[in-house]
Amino acid sequence: STPAATFLDESGLQLFAHRGFSGRYPESTHASYAEAIDYAERTGIELGLECDVHFTADDHLVCLHDLTVDRTSDATGPLLDWTLADLRTVDFGSWFTADPTPQERAVTTLVELLDMIKDARDRGARINLNLETKHPTPRGLDIEERVAELLTERGWHTADSPVRMITFDPEALIKIGELLPELRRTFLVSDLSRVPDGELPDGVRIVGPDVTRLREDPGFVERAHRRGNEVHPWIVNTVEDVQFCRDLGVDGYTSDFPDVVMETLTGA
Ligand code: G3P
Ligand code: CA
Repeated sequence: STPAATFLDESGLQLFAHRGFSGRYPESTHASYAEAIDYAERTGIELGLECDVHFTADDHLVCLHDLTVDRTSDATGPLLDWTLADLRTVDFGSWFTADPTPQERAVTTLVELLDMIKDARDRGARINLNLETKHPTPRGLDIEERVAELLTERGWHTADSPVRMITFDPEALIKIGELLPELRRTFLVSDLSRVPDGELPDGVRIVGPDVTRLREDPGFVERAHRRGNEVHPWIVNTVEDVQFCRDLGVDGYTSDFPDVVMETLTGA
């Protein structure tokens, strides 16, 4: 059968592992990202990781979706009350899997994730990152400022950067455009009526719709394409969802199960 890498390369489709390989490992942990990278290396595909970032009490950015640690750990409270050192003692794996490994327990900082991506790329793996800044948060657009600093320090602020920025927040999108003008930006939407005719704010060229909302308005993809924009739906987890998106001709897939997307698209 055709190797997966050839298929993705030829089709131009993009694939993103949502919060890492979060269908099979606890989301946003070291294991979730390491396993997604390993999957890409084993199959030879180009794979984007996806992460959300928030500040800790002592000003570190960590990869977590929620503003509290309650849902995905054995601890409680707002992330802004936790120092990074204390977060290192928290178990982020047991809610998802019995007897988690240390990697499955471990929270990931944004710096650690960027280092993992750099190491993988140095080994020849084709790994990139969809980095999401979430709003509203208590520290507002500080997140964009910090992300821009971190990326600029490592020279990942230029057009050849492996990092692309994604957000639901139009103000953040504009801020990112000012701070990191060369990076690709994606406007995420749950409510598709925010961009009724597929036209995106601030010159952005990629839209990321919720796949469940796309089912209510499948013509959205064609309207966005007519405007010259790419469509990257999330969270495309089932064979049916992948087939639905494929038939609409989407340009990228964000999934908790990148293996399901690949196997469905290639028939492997
Ligand atoms: O990649 C987009 C997707 O992550 C948006 O939804 O809630 O998982 O951040 P959420
Ligand atoms: Ca996200």
